Amino acid sequence: MGTVLINECTRSMQKTVNINNLYTSCPNIFSMKVLKDATVFVDNVLKKRDIGIEGEKIVKIEKNLHGDEIDCTGLVILPGAIDIHVHFRDFREKRKEDWFSGSRAAAKGGVTTVFDMVNNDPPITTYERLMKKKRIAKKSVVNYGLYFGLGPGNLGDLNDVAPHVCGFKLHMCKTTGDLLLTDPVLQKKSFEAVKKTGKVIVVHAEDQKTLDMAEGIHKKRCDFLAHADSRPRLAESRAVAYAIACAKETGAKTHLTHISTGLALTQIRRAKQRDAMDITCDTTLTYMFFTRDNLEEMGAFCKMNPPVRTKEDLVSVWESIKYNIIDIISTDHAPHTIKEKEGEDFKTVPAGIPGVEMRLPLLLDAVNKNMLTLETLVKTCCTNPARRFNLKGRGEIKEGNYADLVAVNMDLRKDVKREEQVTKCGWSPYEGMSLKGWPIKTFVNGNLVYNFGKLYHNQGKDLFE
Ligand code: DOR
Ligand code: ZN
Repeated sequence: MGTVLINECTRSMQKTVNINNLYTSCPNIFSMKVLKDATVFVDNVLKKRDIGIEGEKIVKIEKNLHGDEIDCTGLVILPGAIDIHVHFRDFREKRKEDWFSGSRAAAKGGVTTVFDMVNNDPPITTYERLMKKKRIAKKSVVNYGLYFGLGPGNLGDLNDVAPHVCGFKLHMCKTTGDLLLTDPVLQKKSFEAVKKTGKVIVVHAEDQKTLDMAEGIHKKRCDFLAHADSRPRLAESRAVAYAIACAKETGAKTHLTHISTGLALTQIRRAKQRDAMDITCDTTLTYMFFTRDNLEEMGAFCKMNPPVRTKEDLVSVWESIKYNIIDIISTDHAPHTIKEKEGEDFKTVPAGIPGVEMRLPLLLDAVNKNMLTLETLVKTCCTNPARRFNLKGRGEIKEGNYADLVAVNMDLRKDVKREEQVTKCGWSPYEGMSLKGWPIKTFVNGNLVYNFGKLYHNQGKDLFE
């Protein structure tokens, strides 16, 4: 496919036409693009409706609309997914991913907005580097926001950069790259500094002292599980406790990212419910679908920070999604090449796995298996990310909102294949899985960017210009 059959007016052209080209070549023929005969997720339920799009926006959600029609029979239309945690690399790490390849992978996965992390080479800790990254990110085919990294030298500068970023990232521990702030005094200062900006502080919560201790204990081991044991649950729990304390003391909008353990989720539940705090958190696909058993079997291809946990933790993660303790499901799309992952010394193999194009297929499959409701999927992947990060006009299908949309086929069953991965790293930890429910068409600001296996050019927007 990749082209769409256009309605009556263009049938005379006797051929199929790429809808993006059509719009650039004859803008005056049609006024309204119509996604026809779809089942639309609107007002939290599925309704049979057409969606009318003019320019970048949804103008009508009604039955029997006419215009430049795109047949969506049999498809369910959801708000475009927002991934608040990706690493699109670029700079000196283009071999792993760049903004073009990463954003195309996102579009294929039904993602219309990504927020990119800060541990680039060099890390995004100065205004100049942020601006340089903004120039690079113009290659993106989906919308985007960039985080700014908190470091010992930049806590005074935040007001200058705040309008240009989706949020601030605090690394409480060592992970890929060399960005970290382990001093508790500086950690608290970073919460204070972010509070003044009104933005969200996104925290990688693992306690470095606990990691150092555990690493010492397990340093002689060479088995794969040594990685998980060297980054124990207690490290997450201690860091989460301190982050919650800092959030409470400073009142900063706090978001704890890639939460992996039942222990931390209990702490977060208490902070939210008992202390009514302005705290949110996300988990990633990893902690929903993998455990220590997978690490044992897959080795480096299942190595990430925080590490995979036990089956009990995985059950807590699913329960916490159900009961709104986990607000957002992100991917922590962290691509490394196959060659890097196959490195001889498991200890130095980089941590991180790709995921940006797999979130919707995995979660739609979970919906089909009654493990998740479609409502929860939309809340955790679209609505809550937009609300938490203050994205106006996105995350929900509504007249007047941007036409960031994904049309999915809930009945399509397909295997995850390595050769179909769009991410430049060229592999997926989910290879071989048979999943039911796949994105078919992705629209970014009203433009069709992905259509059943084909990707089209689009200029994504910097949402925090
Ligand atoms: O596994 C991970 N990989 N965890 C991180 O915190 C960083 C990420 C990366 O950038 O590769
Ligand atoms: Zn990350």
